[in-house]
Amino acid sequence: MTTRYQQVADHISDQIRNGLLKAGEKTPSVRQCASEMGLSISTVIRGYELLQDQMLIEPRPQSGFYVRPQYQPSKAPEISQPLVKPSEVNIDNLAVSLLQLTQDKNIIQLGTAPPNTDVPAIKQLNRIMTKVIREEDSLGDYDPPPGNKNLRRQIARRMLNAGVKVHPDEIVITTGCQEAMTLCIRAVTKPGDTVVVESPSYFGTLKAIESMGLKALEIPTHAKTGISRTALELAIREWNVSACILTPNFSNPLGYCMSDEDKKELRATLKQANIPIIEDDIYSELTYSTQRPKAIKAFDEEGDASNVLLCSSLSKSLSPGLRIGWAIPGPWLEKVIHLKVSSSMAGATLPSLAAARYLEMGIFDRHLRQMRRYYKEQRDYFLHLATLHLPKDIRLTYPEGGYVIWLELDKKINSMMLYEQALEEGISIAPGPLFSVSGQYQNFVRINYGKATKEQLERAMIVLGRLIASY
Ligand SMILES: Cc1ncc(COP(=O)(O)O)c(C=O)c1O
Repeated sequence: MTTRYQQVADHISDQIRNGLLKAGEKTPSVRQCASEMGLSISTVIRGYELLQDQMLIEPRPQSGFYVRPQYQPSKAPEISQPLVKPSEVNIDNLAVSLLQLTQDKNIIQLGTAPPNTDVPAIKQLNRIMTKVIREEDSLGDYDPPPGNKNLRRQIARRMLNAGVKVHPDEIVITTGCQEAMTLCIRAVTKPGDTVVVESPSYFGTLKAIESMGLKALEIPTHAKTGISRTALELAIREWNVSACILTPNFSNPLGYCMSDEDKKELRATLKQANIPIIEDDIYSELTYSTQRPKAIKAFDEEGDASNVLLCSSLSKSLSPGLRIGWAIPGPWLEKVIHLKVSSSMAGATLPSLAAARYLEMGIFDRHLRQMRRYYKEQRDYFLHLATLHLPKDIRLTYPEGGYVIWLELDKKINSMMLYEQALEEGISIAPGPLFSVSGQYQNFVRINYGKATKEQLERAMIVLGRLIASY
């Protein structure tokens, strides 16, 4: 049954959708609406609150409510056209500078991809840490690989939502997803090998590939459907490929989510070609729908050795400061454990104990529901600001999860210059060339819309709009 305040919201939203109330026009006052619909003032106020949550109206001080400009879906960027040969990787120091900028509180941080940590879950986590410090006597000890058993048990339970049935002993706790990726890539390659990557690709992964002396072969990738299977099949026929590295759910920066059908086919094709897949699953919990998408690993066939090494962490879904990540390396388990010992010996004991307790408490799903709603609302707000302040010919992705968006600007715009100019005005953005090994994406930028407040986002978009218009 529809509640009365829902009826108010429907009544006004119908008028907006039918064009009877246009963007920028004042809605009937609360009093007028209450009298027209025979409802109480408080019911109408709740209805108007709902309309604000739906980004349909906005209050203006001492004036009432106004219809917000509605986002007109813009074109998504075209499928990428990277070079079709393996390249040495040489990612600029910019990646490190960008990361260091996150410490500067005077900068509006749209350039790196930390989550919003101004949330109750972080306070809960802090309380748990304090309790752990008080109660546990193992804090001074190593937490040797594969890592805290309890935490691995909790992760194994969560992986069921991804369609992955895994025993806790098949999981290795790592220092973030970055270490999980590095260990898994090292487990299946040797220096000089070629790996295929989606393009554009997350610069941390490209940095890891660079540090291992591997060559990267960038595969055209669609902003909605993901890596092109046709291009991938051609590439593995032509080149001697040692691994395929990708983020099938809400990739960074494109935000695409591969269909289950494509995941299944991709896994089978690469299995047949004897090529391991390194799956970065870090954003999957931040879907805007109710159910997280399946992992590629869910399509492993029973009784057949897996060719998928899944990597993930709590960095995006809870806290990057915890540095809790994990790898599920399948047949490469022992190798990854050995590599973990040689790279960092063991994990930090306190974060593992705290993360295990947090996950045990059963409060993570509530936090995820809040964050999914929040990031979706931020996306809509960002798109609304983009409609208001950016040129109409910009192409934008439309993420259905995570919190980064990829913008294709006019070809004459150099995103490295735009980055410098924006930084002078106190705004960090991530320029496109960071996401390629072959200097692509000069006129692209990635923006994190999840961390900044609405006021900061608005200020940043006004500045970016002005800078872009000046070209
Ligand atoms: C796609 C992707 N993978 C891995 C990482 C690194 O994650 P962590 O902080 O858990 O090491 C990031 C962080 O931005 C990311 O966006």
